Amino acid sequence: MSDKDTGQREGFSSKFGILCAAAGSAIGLGNIWRFPYVVGDNGGGAFLLVYLAFILVLGIPVMLSEFVIGRRGQRNTFGAFRRLAPGRPWWIIGIMGIAAAFMILAFYSTIAGWTLEYVYKAATNAFQGKSSDELGTMFQSFHTQTFRPLMWQLVFMIMTAGIIIAGVKRGIEKYAKILMPFLVLLLIVMAIRSITLPGAMGGLQFLFKPDFSELSPAVFLSALGQAFFSLSIGMGALITYGSYIGKENKLGNISVEVSIADTLIALLAGVAIFPAVFAFGLEPGEGPGLIFHVLPNIFQQIPGGYFFSVIFFILLAIAALTSSISILEVVVAFLVEELNIRRRHATIMAAAAATFVGVFCTLSFGVMEDTSLFGKTVFDLLDFTSSNVLLPLGGLFIVVFVGWFLGASNVRDELTNSGTLRFRLFSIFMFILKFIAPVAIAIVFMNSIGLIKLGGS
Ligand code: PFF
Repeated sequence: MSDKDTGQREGFSSKFGILCAAAGSAIGLGNIWRFPYVVGDNGGGAFLLVYLAFILVLGIPVMLSEFVIGRRGQRNTFGAFRRLAPGRPWWIIGIMGIAAAFMILAFYSTIAGWTLEYVYKAATNAFQGKSSDELGTMFQSFHTQTFRPLMWQLVFMIMTAGIIIAGVKRGIEKYAKILMPFLVLLLIVMAIRSITLPGAMGGLQFLFKPDFSELSPAVFLSALGQAFFSLSIGMGALITYGSYIGKENKLGNISVEVSIADTLIALLAGVAIFPAVFAFGLEPGEGPGLIFHVLPNIFQQIPGGYFFSVIFFILLAIAALTSSISILEVVVAFLVEELNIRRRHATIMAAAAATFVGVFCTLSFGVMEDTSLFGKTVFDLLDFTSSNVLLPLGGLFIVVFVGWFLGASNVRDELTNSGTLRFRLFSIFMFILKFIAPVAIAIVFMNSIGLIKLGGS
């Protein structure tokens, strides 16, 4: 599996495979679970505008930078920085990324576990005939338990580890290539049903009509964190994947295509959720349980809802899986390449450690609900620290590294495969990396911790 056996690093086998793997990483619970609830928490339309601007101006450039670092360095996130900047401390970005990967995997597996329970609930027809209130109670009584959520979390981790042990081509690429188009199809059906419900207009207005009085420094930071989380950037997942991409592929195109797909799916999820939230008289800001409360309501209203619900939750679990493998791969590639640990052992160690932390995330909705650190539950703390602090900070250092350290000629060489491929907009890209992106990220940060004060309340 490793380069030692073959003399060559294993990589993705086709352009389509690369796209599916990168899109598979980006598209996941972040789009369908996290995006709607964060939009709901942050007041709707104005947040959405800021989010879209961040994807365009910061997200795409950071993603492209990660691919450049990975493919040029031909290593995991820590090793790539060490190779490209020998004797300099840039590898710290790699370590930060590995820390973020642990945190994200821990809480991601909690939610993915909930998804598995909902596959089971859907399959056993548990939503049938339930009122909206009853569906709310059903979610409440499930996710505050101890045993069941932990059991599902463990099942999900074992699935993730199993795919990672199988390696890049046989594992990641194969699973990422199938099934995602079905998820999109189902979301479209649900979005149509949702916007045709009586009272749906309020939801569309909430999502698309910006109310700028809702904007605050915290909203900007949440939009930044959500953009980075959703695109899988800022912690080296795409540095790692970039190292598996062949030189003949156009990194620019891949970045734009993946970002567009990711954003469209988040929007689609928004259009499926919010009209229904308003139609059923629910609260947009109800937090991480939002989709688990709202979606079963929609299925009740669709002919053949039983089948839709079963298939939907299965696909959602698979979308979570193609993302979680990209998170675990960050850690495993590091352990294999830097510490010479066998792939299987590295995977088991990393998954076990993340599961250990994950247990506390899961329990923070139940028996550990009142245990708080810095005023947040374990789940909220890990989510906030990784998404809103480590990812943006990682992104900041990544653009500075590519913009200021790697050197324009190296970057051009990597993007064009030594002049054989075209890359338009190179100077705009470099300008964004050098000036716009670092300054924008720094401003959002300083504004949110109160170091500077720019508009908003
Ligand atoms: N982008 C994934 C999602 O939206 O579900 C989550 C994720 C994957 C975050 C990989 C970060 C990462 F490196």
